[in-house]
Amino acid sequence: MWELEKVLDSLPVAVIAHDLNRKIFFFNREAENLTGYTKQEVIGNDCHKVFPGGFCGKKCSFKKNTTILSFKDLEYNVKFIDKQGNLKFLETRVVPIYNDKEIIGICAVFQDITYEINTEREVEGATKFHDIIGSSEKMLRLYAQIRNVSKISVPVLILGESGTGKELVAQTIHKLSPRKNGPFVAVNCGALPDSLIESELFGYVKGAFTGATKTKKGRFELAHGGTLFLDEIGDVSPAMQVKLLRAIQTYTIERLGDDKRIRVDIRIVSATNKDLKEEIKQGNFREDLFYRISVIPIKIPPLRQRIEDIPLLIDHFVEEFSSEFNMPKPQVSPSAMELLKRHNWPGNIRELQNVIQYALVESLESNGHRIEPSHLPNYLLEKNVVHEIALSKSNNTKRVRKQFDPKEIEMAIKRCGGNKVKAARFLGVSRATLYRWLSKINTE
Ligand SMILES: Nc1ncnc2c1ncn2[C@@H]1O[C@H](COP(=O)(O)OP(=O)(O)OP(=O)(O)O)[C@@H](O)[C@H]1O
Ligand SMILES: [Mg+2]
Repeated sequence: MWELEKVLDSLPVAVIAHDLNRKIFFFNREAENLTGYTKQEVIGNDCHKVFPGGFCGKKCSFKKNTTILSFKDLEYNVKFIDKQGNLKFLETRVVPIYNDKEIIGICAVFQDITYEINTEREVEGATKFHDIIGSSEKMLRLYAQIRNVSKISVPVLILGESGTGKELVAQTIHKLSPRKNGPFVAVNCGALPDSLIESELFGYVKGAFTGATKTKKGRFELAHGGTLFLDEIGDVSPAMQVKLLRAIQTYTIERLGDDKRIRVDIRIVSATNKDLKEEIKQGNFREDLFYRISVIPIKIPPLRQRIEDIPLLIDHFVEEFSSEFNMPKPQVSPSAMELLKRHNWPGNIRELQNVIQYALVESLESNGHRIEPSHLPNYLLEKNVVHEIALSKSNNTKRVRKQFDPKEIEMAIKRCGGNKVKAARFLGVSRATLYRWLSKINTE
């Protein structure tokens, strides 16, 4: 018996048992930790007297003068106030204790799920989830999916239009996963030609080809212990798809110029804005690769399908960029907000970022306290026009109006604390243009 008590005391779950008169005869160490009561305080006493709210959440079957003939196992979550007055949520399972066929009492096993319940609530009323902003029903569903898939290491395929936040979601999955302390390695499969992508993904050994002067690890190896993000996977050529499939099936790779197979421990997250099912039909994408990478598909809704998130996102970006540009945070006038909500955002969140940057700079011309419709790009006022800014991937708003103006350049650099990347963004020009202008100023 003494050994049995030791065994039960070392369990990571709390155990309590009482007889038909609710007199407690067993209480293990975890039950002491969780409730704040000691064994001495509870053993031999009526369960309801020791624990004022009870463990049973008004589901107690043990009332005075009742005989228990049968008892069904019970499972429920219950609120509990511990001895120190802290509110806890317990997941409880109650089973009967038999002496032959007769019930002589019950045993309850319970676990503290306060943390899980609180996180769940946070998700329910959330306006953001880590770095992802949005409180629409669709986004809350997305947050729950991210949380679920982050726990297990299966391949995930993120689907969504351009600028919806696919990379952000991939990073969040990594950050929440048990691999969070490992690397997050991203490869833009669409940006690289086949000749480069193979060596980029799998690495090479010295002498593998002209120019391979030393051995180099590929992204698969660099992601060992972490997550490999295969972005724009829909753009990979059929020849490369075969090689990718082999690596993903076996979790082993060969560096170019070497036939030794190297095992990698990685989690694969892929993303595309293409309709891969359609690409399969057209013969552009391998079906077997599709099933390998999309064990769990996650679809990010386009911004136009969650307009209730637009004010939140605007507030977030106005705050972020105004602090980046060292200016006070302006208000957004109701009419400007109305126009922003009415737009259909083909470039999604990235387009919204660009528009807010543009509007902030424009608003400075009329003291920068309020963003008005006149500060928004003209195309937002025109109907059904997809402007190049909408789909532009770069973070600049391509404001053709900006001309070389040394005074303005100086002001922008000052405003951005000397940071030329920010200053270029502020001016709405590329970094190269700003450098060209600066060297022009210096030589003038
Ligand atoms: N819900 C969101 N909350 C806050 N920022 C977001 C959100 N969604 C996207 N962003 C931001 O918008 C920008 C574009 O997101 P991201 O690069 O992840 O999109 P994408 O879907 O990968 O686009 P593309 O298909 O063009 O590669 C990033 O700066 C990202 O941080
Ligand atoms: Mg992307």
